[in-house]
Order: sequence, then C-alpha cells, then structure tokens
Amino acid sequence: MKPFGIAFAVLAALCAACSGPVGHDDQAVDAADGQRAPVRAPETIVGHDGLPPASQRPGNATDPAMARTIHVVSSRRTFQNMAGLARPRALRQGHGGIELVLSEMDAARLDDLAGIVHRTEQRCGGFFAFDTRAAADAFVRSDMSLQAMQASQASYTLDNRPTVDRWLPQVQESRIRETIRHLSSYQNRYYASPTGKASAEWIRDTWASLAAGHGDATVELFSACSGCATQPSVILTIPGASLRDEVVVLGAHLDSINVSGGGSPWQLAPGADDDASGIAVLTEALRIALAGGWRPQRTVKVMGYAAEEVGLRGSSAIAQAHRAAGVDVVAVLQVDMTNYKSGPVQDMKLMTDYSNANLQSFFRQLFDSYLAPLGYTRGTHTCGYGCSDHASWTHAGYPAAMMFEAGDLNGPFPYIHTTGDTLATMGGSALHSVKFAQFSLAFLGEAAKTRAVRMAGPLPPQREP
Ligand code: BES
Ligand code: ZN
Repeated sequence: MKPFGIAFAVLAALCAACSGPVGHDDQAVDAADGQRAPVRAPETIVGHDGLPPASQRPGNATDPAMARTIHVVSSRRTFQNMAGLARPRALRQGHGGIELVLSEMDAARLDDLAGIVHRTEQRCGGFFAFDTRAAADAFVRSDMSLQAMQASQASYTLDNRPTVDRWLPQVQESRIRETIRHLSSYQNRYYASPTGKASAEWIRDTWASLAAGHGDATVELFSACSGCATQPSVILTIPGASLRDEVVVLGAHLDSINVSGGGSPWQLAPGADDDASGIAVLTEALRIALAGGWRPQRTVKVMGYAAEEVGLRGSSAIAQAHRAAGVDVVAVLQVDMTNYKSGPVQDMKLMTDYSNANLQSFFRQLFDSYLAPLGYTRGTHTCGYGCSDHASWTHAGYPAAMMFEAGDLNGPFPYIHTTGDTLATMGGSALHSVKFAQFSLAFLGEAAKTRAVRMAGPLPPQREP
C-alpha cells in the first residue's frame, strides 16, 4: 500500500478526455498470453478544500478584481509535468516521506493543467487547487490518511449471524432495479443542476418513507458544503441503543457526471452504475433492516453524498464535520458502482487503496462467511488514487473501505461518465447489485450489532392458593 495520504482527483470533472480512472484488478490478466495487465504505480497527491476549483467559481474567470492566483499541491513528478504552468513556492514532506510541491499558478490556466496531467500521466486530477497558500498548507498538515489506513483500534467481530441470516434472503432484485431506473431517468444528477438537487430530495423522501413507522430513524439533508452548489447530501440516522457514541457509516454518492463536455448542468448523465446502483443497494438494505423494526447497538448513518464526481466534496465536508465534532466513527463502507459484470470475472472487488487494513480484513471475513457460501467470488481492485468517498473518511482519520463491482476482463464498466451508463447497457437487470445489498446487510448487522432484547423482569410474587 502506498504510504502517503491523500489523492483526490479534484479536477477529474474538468478533464474532457477522461472516461474514468486508470486502475487495475488483481485478475486483469491478458487472455492471450496470461500476463497480468500493466499496473500503473500508485500516484501521489491531490486533495481539495471542499470548494470548486477557483477557475470554476462564478466571476473568477472574468472579474479582474478577484484573486487570480491559485495554490496547487502536487507530487514532484506532477509538478515537473506541469511544463512551466506553475511557479514553485515550497517543498513539503507528505506522510511516508513523499515530496510535495506547493506552487502558484494563474487560475485561468487550471483547465490546461488538467489536460496536461491527463496527457502526461494518463489520468484525471492528481493535484489539488486552493484559494490561499494557508489552505494549501493546512491541507498538507491535516492529512490523516496514513494513520487511518494503518490504525487498528476497532475490533470487528462476526457474532450476529441470526440477524444477518434473516436479512439476506429478503433482497429483491426488482426493487434495486426500480431505484436505479428512477435515479437514471433524470437528465443528470450533476451537483450544480436543478435535477441534481431534485434527485437528492427524492432520495431523502424515499429514505424518509422507509424510516416512517420505525420510531427512532430520522432523515436529513446535509448542506454545509461550500463546494456542493445546490446539491445536498442525504443522511439517515438510526441511533444506537447501547453504544450510541460509536457510529457505523454506509455510503454511496448520489451525483452523476458526463465528462465529455467537461461536466455541465444540462448534459445527459444517467449514472446508472456510477452510482445510482450504490444508492439503490443502500436503499434496499435499509428497507429490509427498517421493515423488521431492527434496532442496532451502535448508531448507524446511511449517507448519499453530494458532488463526489467533482472531487469528493460532499463526503469530505461530512467527514471533516464528524472529525471537528469528535465523533467516533468506527467503520465506513463505501459502495460505488455495483451493477456491471460481464464474462468470467470475480463477483466483487475489495478496493485496496485509501482504506483501512483492519477493516479490509473484516470485509474479507464478511464476504467469506456470508457471500462465498452463496457461490460468489471476490478479488481486489486498485485505483491508485482516492477515487471515491471512502478516501474522504480516510483523509479525516477514520477507518473506511470500499466494495467495487466485478467489471469485465478489461476492467470496470466501460461506459462510466458517459450517456451510455444506463440499465440497458448493463443488461437491464440489477442482479449483480443484489450481492452488494447482501454484503451491505452483512456489514450492517456485524458492524452495528443488534440491540440485546430486554428480558422480562422478575415475575410478580405468586399468591398462596
Ligand atoms: N465510481 C468512480 C470511481 C471508480 C471508477 C472506481 C472506476 C473504480 C473504477 C467515481 O465516481 C469517480 O469517478 N471518481 C473520480 C475521482 C473523484 C475524486 C472525482 C475518478 O476516478 O475519476
Ligand atoms: Zn464517477
């Protein structure tokens, strides 16, 4: 595992040529010669301040009175590839001794920078832009990823089989399919579009109706994210009965993007796999847990994150808010892309990077106990940078891990971030997401545990006949 902290590709959305991250599966084997496909070395460094890139903020590009300089944090290699666009200002040591360069550049050249990184490093993002030098410095100082990836305070156990075994057969493909169908029917769920807001509110309403009648569960919109434009995140909370201060998080991102035009509020971006499928999986897991009136020992928070596609902004704001409030988050599951499988590939891939080693091992145990007996197989996938919201939690110092889809022999879903990310392209079924709903239920039951049922008190004294 790469020893340095964060790698948020904040500018992925600006990168028109990018149709998804360059990563690799442990089974990405070239069928012709049996050789493993080339694996790109994990690359360093990017991050974000929760704000849109300076050049995207209204007014910045045209108003000369506004600040024109942005402060970029990158690896030394990425800085060298910037070909003179940025002026070096300071060297910093990242976690694990990786050298970071703090540089300054004209905000109007940010798009050019994204293009250069894409051409020279065959990926999107790979650097991080801030409004002020202080914010860039604070970002480097605050990265807690290394500790979060290695920390192993939490002890995860498998001892709640009665609850999980009751849940697993209840997962219904048709319900997951219907949620994916609805969410992918919006023009897009882009963070800065009207349908991006409306679709988040639909998720809030859907989860609220599942919570109605449960008594304890509540649903809220989280809007304290300065870079999320009009899109809120959605958070459903089930308070824990005995370990209320320990929080278990299940999350997926609710936004979508079409990168062909650099991302826009009006483009078609169905995002059926990325990541309507993750929201649908969590919705189905919630339905099953809440319908039975289940009450956990630990507090459970189920989250739909805003603005993931433009730099993990919603999840970053939420994770940092939890850190600032001193909340004890004991485990985070991320489900991002669950529904595509084609050909002889493993059913589910554990993301190897930007996640906690101890939690990854718990995921493997959960899979082997609950999913392997159903005939499913597992592998691994490596993005090489923080490619989804689990990285926001890792950055904030919390144990997080991610389960990812099977894909095909060439890797993940080929239509990611295009108009082709539809249910139809995935065969019109949500069968592969069923496994992820089952995994989410296993995680929910075993990480949050079931509240002990209170036994009846002592019997009243019996009267003598
Ligand atoms: N779902 C993807 C992440 C992903 C795609 C993981 C393919 C593994 C394989 C996610 O929505 C995404 O697009 N992430 C961005 C990075 C983000 C920081 C903007 C990416 O990978 O370009
Ligand atoms: Zn995406």
